[in-house]
Amino acid sequence: MKTYHLHGTPNLKWWQTAVFYQIYPRSFQDSTGDGIGDLQGIINRLDYLVDLGVNAIWISPIFPSPMADFGYDVADYCDIHPMFGDLATFDRLLAEAHARSLKIILDFVPNHSSNQHPWFLESRTSRDNAKRDWYIWRDAKPDGSPPNNWISMFGGPAWTWDATTGQYYLHSFLPEQPDLNWRNPDVVDAMHNALRFWLQRGVDGFRVDAILCLIKHDSFQDNPPVEPGTYWEAWGHILEPRYTVNQPEMFEHVRLMRRVFDEFADRVHIGETSTEDVTGLLPYYGRPLDGYDIPFNFKLLHANWHAATVRQIIEDYYDILPAGGWPNFVFGNHDIHRFATRYGYQNHRSVAMLLLTLWGIPTLYYGDELGLEDVFIPLAQRVDPWGIKMPEADFGRDPERTPMQWDSSPNAGFTSGQPWLPVANDYQQRNVASQLADAHSTLNFYKTLIQLRRSRPALHNGAFTFVDGLGDDLLAYRREADGQRLLVCLNFGDQARTIDLSHLTSRAATLLSTHFTQQSGTTFMLQPHESILLQLG
Ligand code: GLC
Repeated sequence: MKTYHLHGTPNLKWWQTAVFYQIYPRSFQDSTGDGIGDLQGIINRLDYLVDLGVNAIWISPIFPSPMADFGYDVADYCDIHPMFGDLATFDRLLAEAHARSLKIILDFVPNHSSNQHPWFLESRTSRDNAKRDWYIWRDAKPDGSPPNNWISMFGGPAWTWDATTGQYYLHSFLPEQPDLNWRNPDVVDAMHNALRFWLQRGVDGFRVDAILCLIKHDSFQDNPPVEPGTYWEAWGHILEPRYTVNQPEMFEHVRLMRRVFDEFADRVHIGETSTEDVTGLLPYYGRPLDGYDIPFNFKLLHANWHAATVRQIIEDYYDILPAGGWPNFVFGNHDIHRFATRYGYQNHRSVAMLLLTLWGIPTLYYGDELGLEDVFIPLAQRVDPWGIKMPEADFGRDPERTPMQWDSSPNAGFTSGQPWLPVANDYQQRNVASQLADAHSTLNFYKTLIQLRRSRPALHNGAFTFVDGLGDDLLAYRREADGQRLLVCLNFGDQARTIDLSHLTSRAATLLSTHFTQQSGTTFMLQPHESILLQLG
């Protein structure tokens, strides 16, 4: 049986052993009563994050923005939206986080700005404006229709007509998010300087948004129809984005951005990737490792929760990792339904067990540590533009963006005002305060698991070996380092299973179970959907 990462890695970088935690800032903690989370709110909750045990916080965009895509439409790359605070508050957040050994990661949105960004406002004034070429303008076809058939990621044409100057501009997402022209060196300089602005302030890294769209093929050819059953069809596309995503020149820009990060010590470069199969992650790592430190691996986001499927995805990924490349896993974020809903509530702790015991960096999404599920939002109350534009598809992102549930006070302690999205109905039972008081809560399960991951080299830097043949519906693997031997076994099924480990150990004992069972010996019983972490003697 093949063992991965046999010898561990000496001199690990901080991010290789870190547990990352994504905060969707509008929904984490409001401190002003306007119903929207803010930076002071995050400061007020830093001790919670320390207690949870995470090391780094990635905060979705907090920059000035008209909020057409809730901050992913940036109107100024070098300031803070007044709704979230100001630069002084941000500096305080950074200082308070660093004082607690927490790293702060911001979100960089390079593909497009807001249509209210001064660059675009200038660009659209005339065809000969100095900023004209900062965006992508094209003439209509002779019949007045858009220059080609490209469609927006959120549905509808990727071109919008601008009557003032009589041309179309390109937007890979909303019309309010015009694509910047990264073939223009002035754009590249300006955007690199925006990164430096924050890195000089002490930000520990960036998650880079939607990089796949950064460069479009310069032939501007039509995209072909999507093949049935493919990745892009699953994302609701009718065209295969052959000329609009993952172009070779895009990866060159990943490398150039990487050099900006390398001007500063100890920063982490994280990318939102999009690939059909796991080998597509390789160019995002770069060769020799000059791309992303953490090219987000979303392969488990879309998997079925079956032991064999999940095992195959993990194996395929470990098999293709470039030399020195460090793995990572993601199960949830602000763009996809919560895994407690996707995979079934009965499996939500097993997902955490997997995420936090695999070899590779885990990124958690706020509220998953409480077992939060999607909150149903009726069409009339939806605010996410994707959910509104494509109501027939199940892509609306409001359900996974609802307010954090802190306690049983009104609005779950999130706000004293009217929350921007409804709070889940169950908040009086499911919240941080109630779960802290319950030794067997999901929150306490996460705290123990993160603590184990941080304290055991076997988990954060140990060898990884699948253990096959223990039984149906089971996924098992060993993690080993410095003479420490651990075994993880997940039961994906709804039958209890007994496993016999006598070929591996003379005596094992439970370190943690999703069901808080305690067993020892060489045979172990797993309840339906139970997962266990064992110390092997
Ligand atoms: C990324 C973000 C998503 C956003 C889109 C456009 O996919 O994660 O939330 O809508 O880019 O910026």
